[in-house]
Amino acid sequence: MFITLEGPEGSGKTTAVENAVKRLTEMGYEIVRTREPGGTPISEQIRNVILDKANTSMDGKTEALLYAASRRQHLVEKVWPAIKEGKIVICDRYLDSSLAYQGGARGLGVDEILNINLFATENTWPDLTLLFDLDPQIGLARISKNANREVNRLDLEKLEFHNKVRNTFLELAKRYPDRYVIIDASKTQEEVAKDTLDAILSRLCK
Ligand code: TYD
Repeated sequence: MFITLEGPEGSGKTTAVENAVKRLTEMGYEIVRTREPGGTPISEQIRNVILDKANTSMDGKTEALLYAASRRQHLVEKVWPAIKEGKIVICDRYLDSSLAYQGGARGLGVDEILNINLFATENTWPDLTLLFDLDPQIGLARISKNANREVNRLDLEKLEFHNKVRNTFLELAKRYPDRYVIIDASKTQEEVAKDTLDAILSRLCK
């Protein structure tokens, strides 16, 4: 089982999932928690290049290729082996982030970005994608309040960019209804945590 978490900055996806992981572990499931870009030493090195605030001149296609490269290395070293061992992999962000950020918001084209990612992932699709949907204005306000969170190059994009990211995610949810579940991230933390666990459990019981 391969579960991915998607959504805008400040949607609280990481906190919501911590609770679900705790419950699932108590129930006896073996969970591997990981994130993109990153999750392995090579992928983390690529992450540092992509998110470095000094890299203002990075070309959009270079950015998309680096995300795909980091994704592939992470699949090879971490995701595929864990799935083979029957574990549940829960990953913060995956291919859909590339479709929404690089394809939609950067304007490189969702299908173009999908193509390079099909090459990189050898058609590895998540079984379940949880979309933590939130108005970017609320998300960005939440981030700026959180002094501990490091601000990265993509956070610094304008609101219009983040609105495009959101709209592309919502289009992807329509395009892939079998694997997408939309979580309303404007609800309270307790409600979001409950919706997250419910969505995972109902997919596990399918
Ligand atoms: P991160 O600090 O992990 O952000 P978050 O906590 O919001 O997940 O930074 C990852 C950033 O990279 C985030 O702004 C989304 C962006 N991103 C892409 O643009 N394309 C991608 O394919 C991925 C995986 C992430």
